[in-house]
Amino acid sequence: MKNKYIDLIEQTFDFPQDEFKVVDNELVFHDIPLMDIIKQYGTPLRISYLPKISSQIQLAKRMFNVAMAKVDYKGSYNYCYCTKSSHFSFILEEALKNDIGLETSSSYDIYLIQALYGKRLIDKNTHIICNGFKREQYIKNIADLINDGFKNTILVLDNKEELSILEKYLNDDVTANIGIRIASEEEPKFDFYTSRLGINYKDIIDYYHEKIKGNKKFNLKMLHFFINTGIKDTSYYWSELNKCINLFCNLKKESPELDSLNIGGGFPIKNSLSFEYDYEYMAEEVISQIKNICTQYEVDEPNIFTEFGSYTVGESGAILYSILNKKKQNDRELWYMIDSSFMTTLPDTWGIKQRYILLAVNNWNKEYNRVFIGGLTCDSEDYYNAEAHANAIYLPEINYTQEEEDEIQYIGFFHTGAYQESIAGYGGIQHCLTPAPKHIILDVDPETGEYTTRLFAKEQSYQSMLKTLGY
Ligand SMILES: Cc1ncc(COP(=O)(O)O)c(C=O)c1O
Repeated sequence: MKNKYIDLIEQTFDFPQDEFKVVDNELVFHDIPLMDIIKQYGTPLRISYLPKISSQIQLAKRMFNVAMAKVDYKGSYNYCYCTKSSHFSFILEEALKNDIGLETSSSYDIYLIQALYGKRLIDKNTHIICNGFKREQYIKNIADLINDGFKNTILVLDNKEELSILEKYLNDDVTANIGIRIASEEEPKFDFYTSRLGINYKDIIDYYHEKIKGNKKFNLKMLHFFINTGIKDTSYYWSELNKCINLFCNLKKESPELDSLNIGGGFPIKNSLSFEYDYEYMAEEVISQIKNICTQYEVDEPNIFTEFGSYTVGESGAILYSILNKKKQNDRELWYMIDSSFMTTLPDTWGIKQRYILLAVNNWNKEYNRVFIGGLTCDSEDYYNAEAHANAIYLPEINYTQEEEDEIQYIGFFHTGAYQESIAGYGGIQHCLTPAPKHIILDVDPETGEYTTRLFAKEQSYQSMLKTLGY
C-alpha cells in the first residue's frame, strides 16, 4: 500500500524538484544532505545557501535583457537589491558579486551603504535608490552621499516636503538626481484604495512644474511605482502598470531628463512545491507594454529598474527544527511541538499567514499523519497548520516522547530567506525569551564543487537577552 510520507509527496507534487530530492529516505537540498548538517550543527538551525542569490539575480537579468532584445528596446535593465529583505553582510556580499544597485529604506541603511563602500564592495557609480517616507536624518544622510560624489544616488520623493529638506543639505555646486514615487491604487480587497506611499498621480505633473522644473539643484530622472501585491498576471496589475507608463510618457514630454522607470519589487518566490509562475512571460509582457505605450507617445523608452527583495534572497533561506514531542489534545488534533517558535523565527507565518514549503528532513519511509505544528511560546497563535496548496499539513508519524531521542523527526521550512530576521528583531528580545537559532552559511567551493559550511552565529545566549533587559 502506498501510504508512506514519500508516496504522499510524490503523488501530490511533481517530485523530485530542482532543489529537493530524497536519498535513503532523507531530504537533500541543493545536493546537500540535510541530516549531515543537522548532525554537525543541531537544531533549531537557520541556513543561508548563498549560490541561490547569484543565480536568481543572473536569471532575472537574463530574462529582462532577452525581453528587451525581442522588442528592440532601447533602454537598459538595472537590477537593484532591496536591502530591507535581508541586511546581513554575507547576503549583500554575495548579491554584489553580480553588478547590481541597491535600494534603501531608512536613514540607517545609508550607514550600511557607507560600510559597503568602505569594504570596496560598491563604488561611487553604484545605483543607490533611496525610498521610503523620509525623516530629516535620512534625507541628510542621502545628501551626504550625493555631496560625496555617489553620482547615481536617486532620492525617490515619497511626499512633496522631502525636496526642500534635501535642498537644505546639498552643497552649492551639486545637482541631485531625484525620482517621484506614484501612489498606486490598491487592490479592491484593501481597507483603503490609494497607497499611503508616494504622491498622487494627479498631482505629479503640477508638482514638477512648481518645484522641480528650472531648479538647478534637481534633475528628475526616475518615476517609481510599486504594487504591494506583486507583479502578477491580473487585470489590476496591468491596469496600474499602464497608468504608470502613461504618466511617464506625459511627464517625459515636460521633463526631457526623465529617463528611468522603476517598477519596484514583487517578483514572487516558490512558496509551495506546486508553485507555478511564468517569470519569462511576465518580464516580456512588462517590457513590451512599456515599449508599445512609449511608441504611441513617441517618447524614448525608459531605462528599467527593479528592486527585488524576496526574489533575490527568499529562496536562499531555510530553517530546520526538531519535533520534540507529540500531543494529542482530542480525537482529531495531533500536535507536533518544535524546538523553537514560529513567532520568533518565522514571524510572517502568524503576522500575514505566509506559507512556506514544509518538508520532513528524515523518515520519508514512515507512514504519515495530519498534524498541527506548535511553537514553544505560550502564545496560542504560535502554530502552523496549513500550506499554500492545502488546508492541512502532513508529516511522518512519530512514536517517541521527549525522553526517547533515538528516532527524532526533523522538519524544514524552505525559502524563508526574506524579511524574517528583521521582522522578528534578530538578536533582540524574543517572545518568551526564545533564543534566536544558530545560523550557518552554506556555499559551494568553486574549485571542488563541494559544499562548505560556516557558522555565522551561535544560538543567542541568555546573557545577551538579560543584558538588553537591563539585568
Ligand atoms: C519600495 C519597495 N521596493 C521593493 C520592495 C521589495 O519587495 P519584494 O520583496 O516583494 O520584492 C518593497 C517591499 O516592501 C518596497 O516597499
